[in-house]
Amino acid sequence: MSKEVVVSGIRSTGYLHLGNYFGAIQNYVKMQDDYNCYFFVADYHALTTLPDPKELKPNVYRVIAENIASGLNPEKVALYVQSDVPEIPELYLMLNMLAYKGELEKTASFKEKARSQPDNINAGLLTYPSLMAADIIIHRAHKVPVGKDQEQHLEMTRNFAGRFNHRYGELFPEPTAFNFGEQLIKIPSLDGKGKMSKSENENATIYLADEDDKIRKKIMKAKTDGGPTEQNSEMPDYIENIFMLMKLVSSEENYDKFLADFNKCEIRYGDMKKQLAEDMIAFVSPIREKAANLQNDIPMLQKIMQAGKEKARASASETLANARKLIGINY
Ligand code: ADP
Ligand code: TRP
Repeated sequence: MSKEVVVSGIRSTGYLHLGNYFGAIQNYVKMQDDYNCYFFVADYHALTTLPDPKELKPNVYRVIAENIASGLNPEKVALYVQSDVPEIPELYLMLNMLAYKGELEKTASFKEKARSQPDNINAGLLTYPSLMAADIIIHRAHKVPVGKDQEQHLEMTRNFAGRFNHRYGELFPEPTAFNFGEQLIKIPSLDGKGKMSKSENENATIYLADEDDKIRKKIMKAKTDGGPTEQNSEMPDYIENIFMLMKLVSSEENYDKFLADFNKCEIRYGDMKKQLAEDMIAFVSPIREKAANLQNDIPMLQKIMQAGKEKARASASETLANARKLIGINY
């Protein structure tokens, strides 16, 4: 039986962080043996916020390097840059004819960006979901490993794919957001306000490139309180967040010990954060060092990007030819 197709992308907008790792990359790595995988750097999506051209290139190289340092094997998957695959913008153009202004304007990510950059509410921001749908269905994907924040975009992708199939004939499977656990993940920021992110909340986000001392400082500053006063009480969300991070990077013994201390009202958050910081450093530092080495070898990164581009274009051109034919663009 042929393998199911998996597609996912990360925007080249800055340093990767724990949210990208646990929401997306960890799943990529687990899927690379059993699925036909396409992973890419979404550099066109990054253009919606008009990045400095000087920063775009190092950001693209860094996303590639950090993916590999996290365990992705470019021999097993297609690892490429979105703008290297011209079939994607062509399919995007076709999907834009099937995407309605009303639904695009209602998208949560658009409304959020329209609020945060009122001077630059461009058409790329509005049509962000149709470009993302093109990224996914160009390889006729089944599964899309992403964090919880992408759920709505996936729903829109299914709508656009379904509309195409309905109007022109069956071509695209309807893909679903995927996580190996039961639910999609959201890694909260250390200050308890919102999620970890590449471009906002820098002091409350742990980046895969953070030095050991920086990790210690950020974790020791995470919000806590005087501790519970009644046994087995409910955790405030900012405390729950610290336990969640501990569950991801610490041993089961450490996690169980602090949970028992919490339930007995004996927890010392200072000790818990010290332990979490050391476990976090043991987790992040090998990735940081490997990524730094890879980033110094630009010719090697370029070779990987070239091989990824060839694999991605082979699949994309086949889908696009079928889409053109179904639409009637075959004169
Ligand atoms: P960012 O939002 O940090 O700029 P991207 O938008 O490029 O990152 O997201 C790349 C992937 O990382 C997506 O699959 C997204 O769902 C996931 N992701 C980003 N932030 C988080 C988070 N805090 N928790 C879980 N997943 C996240
Ligand atoms: N919109 C995604 C994000 O902000 C990035 C992305 C672009 C993506 N194209 C994609 C994710 C295709 C999965 C599949 O995180």
